[in-house]
Amino acid sequence: MPMTDAAAQVQKLLLQQEAIARFGSFALRERDLMNILTEAARVCAKGLNVPFSKVCRYRAEQNDLLIVAGYGWQDGVIGRVVSRADLSSPQGRAFTTGAPSICGDLRKDRGYDLPPFYAEHGIVSTADVIIKGGGDKPFGVLEIDNDQPHDYDEHDINFLTGFANVLAEAVASASRGEALQITVDRMKAIVEEKDHLLFEKGQADLQLRQAQKMEAVGQLTGGVAHDLNNILTVIIGTIEILSEAVADRPSLAAVAKMIDEAAARGADLTQRLLAFARKQALQPRQVDVNSLVTESAKLLRPALGEHIELHMKLAGDTSHALIDPSQLNNALLNLALNARDAMPDGGKLIIETANVVLDDSYVSMNSDAIAGDYVMVALTDSGHGIPAGILEHVFEPFFTTKDVDKGSGLGLSMVYGFVKQSDGHIKIYSEVGLGTTVKIYLPLATDTAKPVEVRTTQGIQGGDETILVVEDDPLVRTFVMGQIKSLGYAALAAVNADEALTVIDGPQEIDLLFTDMIMPGPMNGRQLADAALRRRAELKVLFTSGYSQEAIIHHGHLDADVLLLAKPYRISDLARMLRAALAA
Ligand SMILES: Nc1ncnc2c1ncn2[C@@H]1O[C@H](COP(=O)(O)OP(=O)(O)OP(=O)(O)O)[C@@H](O)[C@H]1O
Ligand SMILES: [Mg+2]
Repeated sequence: MPMTDAAAQVQKLLLQQEAIARFGSFALRERDLMNILTEAARVCAKGLNVPFSKVCRYRAEQNDLLIVAGYGWQDGVIGRVVSRADLSSPQGRAFTTGAPSICGDLRKDRGYDLPPFYAEHGIVSTADVIIKGGGDKPFGVLEIDNDQPHDYDEHDINFLTGFANVLAEAVASASRGEALQITVDRMKAIVEEKDHLLFEKGQADLQLRQAQKMEAVGQLTGGVAHDLNNILTVIIGTIEILSEAVADRPSLAAVAKMIDEAAARGADLTQRLLAFARKQALQPRQVDVNSLVTESAKLLRPALGEHIELHMKLAGDTSHALIDPSQLNNALLNLALNARDAMPDGGKLIIETANVVLDDSYVSMNSDAIAGDYVMVALTDSGHGIPAGILEHVFEPFFTTKDVDKGSGLGLSMVYGFVKQSDGHIKIYSEVGLGTTVKIYLPLATDTAKPVEVRTTQGIQGGDETILVVEDDPLVRTFVMGQIKSLGYAALAAVNADEALTVIDGPQEIDLLFTDMIMPGPMNGRQLADAALRRRAELKVLFTSGYSQEAIIHHGHLDADVLLLAKPYRISDLARMLRAALAA
């Protein structure tokens, strides 16, 4: 019998050793701490042939031990029940003393105040050992529970302690793993945040460079267009005279007509360049964007063709915008034609309006936008889209991907210039193969800006009043003098403001001052006009300019009481504006 006992004992020890080893290798592979603890409880109960076991984790804040994993228990025990981490419980005792705490028969041991689940599970004996763990405080305790009184021998306690030590190692490395995982997650988040910030900064830099480039191109274009306008003013004006003179000689008349047409095309071109350069004379007023868009869409419908569906999504509460309505119309037309060209095989064009707020975060990404309230008009097509490398160029004048006879590359440039000059914002989103959205943001009409009313007279009407012409460009001056005289007026000339004031200070009768806006010398046209009006309050004034300068066009807007004749002009325009100015 003693031999059999000894053999059984050896057998039991071997099994326990094997259980510890197997658990050790499981714990090494497993990353999830809860799985490790649950498996520990199970292996431990099996190894000691008891119906229950549990792992209690120490909670420093509450100074208690919470059952976090276990084997054999009914619901409501694991994760719920706690015991105090002091000598009042068997677990607390093992935890505080660090030595195994064994109760062979709880019914005899009255020192403990046990929670009801012990009785509910019929538990009468327990053994607890400490689980050390990686931190400065032990991790908790490992307990086995039996429904019979039991005297745990030295081997059992060794097994339990050995097991708890392996478990302590596993817990330490798992919590190191956990800590590592948390660090890795945090680092990942930081890297993502950094990438995001870099992306945003990259975008903002890109936007800034883009805005600077457009600014530079705009200035260059504006300068060229201004000079071109002066030249065209002479050509367009003189060709009319020439045409009349050669009216009876068909071959020459044809040449004159050709020059006239070419000049008209040139004038149209400079007008578009000025629009891009934000130097066109705008006449902004309060505009009901929805009705303008609706009207405009009626005109667009036939231009789009049968194969393109047009959808309107106009927000009911859309505010009024402060813009030049004819230029908005023009912009819509250009955008719609671009959409049409992008959908040769048909598709959908959606026109939307809405009240929109551009906030600081938008502005931080779009350096050329100003935060605030806007009326947005968006055109979305289902066309071929714009590749990224091209997108950054579409606003540049003369940039086109279309055939020579199909596109001039000025459409978007004009829209861009108009929107910017109107204190608005424009943005293009495009996805190759899916389509393009162009959004224009128009400033709200806060006050009621009055449009400039120019009375129109049918036919060319001259007069006999005296007009003082101030123009520094000799070619233009000679030409204008000729035209004014041809309309029956008396004309006086001055090269600059000084000369003009000398004439005004003299005895000459003068009805109208017709002055260029930009002149060499200390005074511009507006300042000359102010000085002249101080001397002769009854004097009428008509301005002319290749483009609109700040002095006359406040922020690109015409002062309400100012009459401006934009260069180049036809004699009929000159005649009409002279009459309008004299009648003002
Ligand atoms: N809705 C769109 N879908 C695809 N590409 C577009 C769209 N709008 C503009 N583009 C691209 O931008 C380029 C420039 O457009 P822009 O309107 O300035 O000139 P254009 O249409 O080529 O010529 P223009 O308008 O002077 O007749 C176009 O050639 C085209 O490549
Ligand atoms: Mg176009």
